[in-house]
Amino acid sequence: MSLETVLVVGATGHVGRKVVAVLQQRGVAVRALVRPGSDASAIEGPGVTVVRGDMMDPPSLDAAFAGVDAAISCAAGYTKRRKSDSSDIDRVGNVNLAEAAKRSGVGRYVLNSILQCDDAQGVQHFVDKAEAEAALRRLGVPFVAVRPGAFLDQADDFVAANVKKNKYMGMGDASRTRWSWTYTPDLAESLVNAAFADEKIVGRTVDVGWSTGPLSNAELADTIASITHRTLARTIVPWWVLKTVTAVVGTFNHDVRDLGKMFLYFRHGRYVADAALHEALLGPLPTKDDAVRRWAQAQGLVQSAPLGVR
Ligand SMILES: NC(=O)c1ccc[n+]([C@@H]2O[C@H](COP(=O)([O-])OP(=O)(O)OC[C@H]3O[C@@H](n4cnc5c(N)ncnc54)[C@H](OP(=O)(O)O)[C@@H]3O)[C@@H](O)[C@H]2O)c1
Repeated sequence: MSLETVLVVGATGHVGRKVVAVLQQRGVAVRALVRPGSDASAIEGPGVTVVRGDMMDPPSLDAAFAGVDAAISCAAGYTKRRKSDSSDIDRVGNVNLAEAAKRSGVGRYVLNSILQCDDAQGVQHFVDKAEAEAALRRLGVPFVAVRPGAFLDQADDFVAANVKKNKYMGMGDASRTRWSWTYTPDLAESLVNAAFADEKIVGRTVDVGWSTGPLSNAELADTIASITHRTLARTIVPWWVLKTVTAVVGTFNHDVRDLGKMFLYFRHGRYVADAALHEALLGPLPTKDDAVRRWAQAQGLVQSAPLGVR
């Protein structure tokens, strides 16, 4: 598919700004939808036009979609970049985007979704993504849902912050439960590749993880320790603590309930990416060692190798 202009929704976010950078590198003109009042300075540059709009304001979306060849949405409300943000943005805003995409007749709409979002009943931000996918399907928008596993590098990278102190903190158990991980620069590439991919990808949900499969906390900690040449003191918050906090604090704090339920869903062992479709339609996925090495280098975590180790 040949694309001249791509709309990026959530362009100022942790993933969105990487999507903008990938499109710039490929010489594609970017139209970045940014909320009024939000700082767009990090994405301003050659080939990027900032348009102001809001997922909760449908007329602003019509203006954003006008004349673009494709759209990539990495937006989220539950991440609460503003105090007033809520899951309304994920529930209502994503449907507003799907309807605007339909009205505009855009050729391709790529949704940054969530791995297994249609399986995790009761995890609100997963349910909202599943409904966003369903709205795109129902409206007949030519969409692709790209579904990453847990980010190794969250916007606030607590894994890196701990490793800097020679610590690793995980949730649940050390070795029994595995889930899939994603490094966000790789996700940005997958999202852009989905915009350019052959027509046969339309209507598909494509998982993003590592080609070497999911990892337990112990396996991830060992991989990080080996690549950074550190000894990491491990703390694993057990399931019973997660369950208690979710049940007690979660009764009055929606965010704690949502996050707690997400980890308790991980415990079922089904938060696992199927790499085959990605490999067939969007190209190879990285191995755990490759992704962790690039992350560690970007975070300045790689110490000089001991003698004899390269
Ligand atoms: N964290 C994980 O482990 C994980 C795993 C799987 C999938 N995901 C998904 O990955 C995606 C990207 O996550 P992220 O960490 O990059 O999110 P993020 O950094 O919180 O970025 C969210 C973006 O959405 C924008 N936004 C929020 N409300 C909006 C509205 N009403 N109208 C227009 N734009 C709005 C924000 O703009 P402002 O600058 O105006 O705030 C920001 O650009 C999310 O959809 C998330 O569900 C995350």
